[in-house]
Amino acid sequence: MLISFFINWAQMYTYSLYFCRPSNYWNMALFIKNIKRLVQVEESPVPLRAGKEMQTLYSIENAYLLTQGEFIFGFGKMSDFVPEVLQSINEPIEEIDATGKMVLPAFCDSHTHLVYAGSREIEYVDKIKGISYEEIAKRGGGILNSTKLLHQASEEELYDAAWQRLEEIASLGTGAVEIKSGYGLTTDDELKMLRVIRRLKENSPLAIRSTFLGAHAVPLDYKGKQAEFVDLVINEMIPMVAAEELADYVDVFCDKGFFTEEETERILMQGMKYGLRPKIHANELDYSGGIQVGVKYNALSVDHLEFTDDAEIDALLGSETMPTILPGAAFFLEMVYAPARKMIEAGLPVAMASDFNPGSSPSGNMQFILSMACIKYRLLPEEAINATTLNTAYAMGVSDIVGTIAKGKLANFFITKSISTIEFMPYAYGSNKVEKMFLKGKRV
Ligand code: NIG
Ligand code: FE
Repeated sequence: MLISFFINWAQMYTYSLYFCRPSNYWNMALFIKNIKRLVQVEESPVPLRAGKEMQTLYSIENAYLLTQGEFIFGFGKMSDFVPEVLQSINEPIEEIDATGKMVLPAFCDSHTHLVYAGSREIEYVDKIKGISYEEIAKRGGGILNSTKLLHQASEEELYDAAWQRLEEIASLGTGAVEIKSGYGLTTDDELKMLRVIRRLKENSPLAIRSTFLGAHAVPLDYKGKQAEFVDLVINEMIPMVAAEELADYVDVFCDKGFFTEEETERILMQGMKYGLRPKIHANELDYSGGIQVGVKYNALSVDHLEFTDDAEIDALLGSETMPTILPGAAFFLEMVYAPARKMIEAGLPVAMASDFNPGSSPSGNMQFILSMACIKYRLLPEEAINATTLNTAYAMGVSDIVGTIAKGKLANFFITKSISTIEFMPYAYGSNKVEKMFLKGKRV
């Protein structure tokens, strides 16, 4: 809502310049005032929070927030606000009164598969009847079902469906998202998926990172010839993905019934040779050795982690790998919950992402993940906020530009509805507490 302009001479000059330009050149600064609580502010940004530090959540009561262009320009207490500061902003300024409302940094969702075709609710009914995820996969369902549907879909159809998912998650508070390939499983279809992700990156206001997950499942054509498929991933797919610069990271589903530790190592080594840092699926279905392999190759994150014990925690301690838990998948597949509390007590950081995908977590709602973090994993609300903002930003390599409210970071944040306390965010699970969402300083 436009309440008033503060126009000085410099701004009038800017105004006349922008006026003649196409609308996407139009920039409007924001002055959000009377914020009940400005949450997760940082004067001295840190890349992540671990152990006891996960309870640290700096915030300012009765605060203001200023943005300019795509970035956060400043913030502070309303009582310290000096109107002259607005004169240093060289854009027209929109003023928003946030009385009774809080401002939080947008969620970062560091693990999704949100480019996919169709849906898999029929398997979901099989699951209700008692057939396990692994059994469904063995019968040619699961990931291979999505592979078939993706093969039939055009790049345009995939792009449109994924775009709608991005719009939905943004409306629920997500401002950064990692998206994986892995439903192609042929060189052409993996490239098709990654090109869709590249277009989303170019056109969406969300911060997006892409991950090549060729080794997500063995396709039907390679049934009984898993080693040959791994060779294809290594010798053909990775070089082609790298040649087109289509991925930031490389992933492998290192788990029982999928890819072994040795296969994972070979794929990661080749990925790293081509400049792709690992981010892997590990220990969802069993103790797969995947966590240790991830640490060995300095993975940015190891994800899922339902099967984590002392050996895995020891491997992670002292590493630069973010343990990332995916509550949506554990909930939807009714698996054991990863020992998040134990990890934090051991001094580890923990990140929590949605795993948005058609098979194991058909939801990208990070507000639900925030609630799950508290309800099922016994994280305190402060820890859960760190797990879904800063730590997930680290887990997708963007904690220098998003994940907290800090000067110079992207202005990706939301204004809540009127809420009583910050604890209300995870407590009131299932309802949307986001009233206004901003990405790169613009209302979306
Ligand atoms: O992260 N575990 C492996 N991959 C996805 C599921 C993909 C699917 O079932 O379509 C996951 O849960
Ligand atoms: Fe996943």
